[in-house]
Amino acid sequence: MSQRTFSIIKPDAVRKGDTAAILAVIEKAGFKILGIKKIVLSKAQAEGFYHVHSARPFFNDLTTFMTSGPIFPMVLEKDNAIADLRKLMGATNPANAEDGTIRKLFAASIEENAIHGSDAEDTAAFEIGYFFAGYELK
Ligand code: CMP
Repeated sequence: MSQRTFSIIKPDAVRKGDTAAILAVIEKAGFKILGIKKIVLSKAQAEGFYHVHSARPFFNDLTTFMTSGPIFPMVLEKDNAIADLRKLMGATNPANAEDGTIRKLFAASIEENAIHGSDAEDTAAFEIGYFFAGYELK
């Protein structure tokens, strides 16, 4: 069944000029890009987005990194989008990511890992709403 998920091309990938290459992998895997924008997050916006990780030791580093340059938040749609994007991204730590995955191809470390993808339906709904209004998604 058609499903929406949320993704971010992170500041490391944007800085390296990998945005278009990552979007090509995503589109070739059958995802439709319903909405995409380029923004620079404030620290407060990054903290709000990652609030589920607020007690983690890496929270400050993560939210500082996510404000370090432009990002491309986007909403993607396909059958089984949430699980299929997680598979296409590969493991959070690129050292553990399988060949052909986005993180194997483009990520440098567990922090500079090129892309975010929602991990469940409820987080996808929160994350889509954090960045996009319904009328922006077509
Ligand atoms: P993301 O999918 O955006 O969601 C939470 C992020 O926290 C994750 O990607 C990683 O980039 C980051 N993260 C997870 N574990 C660690 C860690 N041990 N050290 C630094 N960052 C981490």
